[in-house]
Amino acid sequence: MPDFDEQWKHVSGEEAVAALMRPQQYACNEQRVKEFRKNMGIRSWFNKNALIKGKVCLDAGCGPGRWTCAMIRMGAARVDSFDLSEEAVKRCQKINPKAYVQNIFDIEPNPVYDVVVSWGVIHHTPDPRGAFSKLSGLVKPGGLLYVMLYDKKNDWYYDGYRGDGCVEKHAEWEVLSFDEKVKKCEDAVAAKGGDAHGWFDAFNPKYNYSYTPDEVRAWYAEEGFVKVRTGCIKYNINMFGQKPA
Ligand SMILES: C[S@@+](CC[C@H](N)C(=O)[O-])C[C@H]1O[C@@H](n2cnc3c(N)ncnc32)[C@H](O)[C@@H]1O
Repeated sequence: MPDFDEQWKHVSGEEAVAALMRPQQYACNEQRVKEFRKNMGIRSWFNKNALIKGKVCLDAGCGPGRWTCAMIRMGAARVDSFDLSEEAVKRCQKINPKAYVQNIFDIEPNPVYDVVVSWGVIHHTPDPRGAFSKLSGLVKPGGLLYVMLYDKKNDWYYDGYRGDGCVEKHAEWEVLSFDEKVKKCEDAVAAKGGDAHGWFDAFNPKYNYSYTPDEVRAWYAEEGFVKVRTGCIKYNINMFGQKPA
């Protein structure tokens, strides 16, 4: 079962577990549009939807679909949404009925998208650099690729679960029962703050790789992108670049 199946099953729907719920974060409303603009670094005040309006967009690793929701509301001509997790796709289908199950690594080059967004996804795969290359192959000339990746500077906070040693550390999590996992998250909330959902997010994925902004900038350059910029970059690396037209 993909790591995120367990997570998405417990954050909403009939099987929701109160401690892990964050319903406000996933409701499809105007707030998602505001968050999308902020995270992608869209600062234009005169036409805030120009980046997306009339464009063919992809939400790669859509989860329950908060950015799918934002791009539909911003007037995209089409939004495609996929995720490895069936549970995520079931939820995203409430926003985009055509959302589908897909593994990034099984995608063939198909440069048809004006905008590809892959937010907090590829650092949860066994080969983030390979996944980045797969995403690059979907961006059409002149199109944009937006990614969010964990920033190495924050690894210290996650008790070994984030960064190069994440796979070995994850062995400790795998042997816990579901109730023990929730308890571990609640203990982390008591010790460090945040909420149980956030800690489940941090502990549950086997792959939690992290990078420096320069490393990600180099990936963009290697794939031939230009005009590489950062969005709101307080905690994570939010970056975008353009394929030459
Ligand atoms: C932290 S969630 C982010 C979801 C969404 N992008 C968002 O910002 O709300 C990471 C998502 O990446 C998906 N994912 C992980 N590996 C994947 C892969 N190889 N192919 C497609 N999706 C993948 C997970 O199933 C999960 O839903």
